[in-house]
Amino acid sequence: MRDQAEILRDMVKKVKPFEFQVISVTSGKGGVGKTSFTVNLAYHLQKLGKTVLILDADLALANVDIILGERPKYNLLHLLSGEKNINEIICESKYGIKFIPASSGFEELANLPKEKQVQIFNSLQEIYYRFDIMLIDTSAGISENVINFCLASDRTIVITTSDPTALADSYAISRILLNYKPENMEIGLVVNMVEDEQEAEKIHRGMNNILKEFTGKTIKYYGCVKKDKKLSESVKDRYVLSAVHPKSSYSQDVESIARYIIEGKRPERKETFWNRFVKNLKNLRIE
Ligand SMILES: Nc1ncnc2c1ncn2[C@@H]1O[C@H](COP(=O)(O)OP(=O)(O)OP(=O)(O)O)[C@@H](O)[C@H]1O
Ligand SMILES: [Mg+2]
Repeated sequence: MRDQAEILRDMVKKVKPFEFQVISVTSGKGGVGKTSFTVNLAYHLQKLGKTVLILDADLALANVDIILGERPKYNLLHLLSGEKNINEIICESKYGIKFIPASSGFEELANLPKEKQVQIFNSLQEIYYRFDIMLIDTSAGISENVINFCLASDRTIVITTSDPTALADSYAISRILLNYKPENMEIGLVVNMVEDEQEAEKIHRGMNNILKEFTGKTIKYYGCVKKDKKLSESVKDRYVLSAVHPKSSYSQDVESIARYIIEGKRPERKETFWNRFVKNLKNLRIE
């Protein structure tokens, strides 16, 4: 049973929908640290007073539940089949982080037809006002699905490592997003698994030089996350590093990025995430 305070909070939030912001986390190349970063970022945003929902948009190869150390009973498949409603599939992890689980190994989720995507989004609209921030953990690769999530979001965080193939892919996805010229969407680069901040800043400068030349636009620098073997251990043992070792370098790096997001100016996009998503769904063609 939800208590009265929670119901009242929902009512207050319902009348100011533009406070809500959506942040997609993407990369182009797989395995660069998106899901771990998304979950640890959610943890810090929550510690800083925000209510956060993670949408696992890696629909057919879901990982958010694994990083959170949870085994959800229901997921988006149950929502799509009509067996469960959105409130029944939202999970609360032991860290208090709420998430919408996807499922693993179901091909039909990998290539969702548009009407199914709209079904998910209609359900999300029923509950979003309970949250300040929705983080979307996208799948690797440059699909229409991923591009649409990013273009509709208020911010997109592009994660890369210093590996040349990861750099090429994060450049490619940034260029595609910038070419669509989404009004006021902010793209922020996070360079993961670096040795030090100088390495990350150099990568950001290099990427912006090329982006500026080919799109006339640039992306922001959100920060770097240093290589930390504690992170690999936490993934193996299925706990959230920032919660268990808040003083680890990984946790501190992600916390700085969480602060940057909260303290910085929120991008002022004219339409809501939902309007943008459905509009793009009709028009999007990746060239
Ligand atoms: N800062 C870091 N320091 C050390 N290892 C890291 C760091 N970030 C990520 N890793 C390693 O990279 C692995 C992959 O991370 P993660 O699953 O978050 O990547 P992903 O981009 O979500 O992958 P996928 O594209 O398959 O969804 C982790 O299990 C961890 O071992
Ligand atoms: Mg992942």
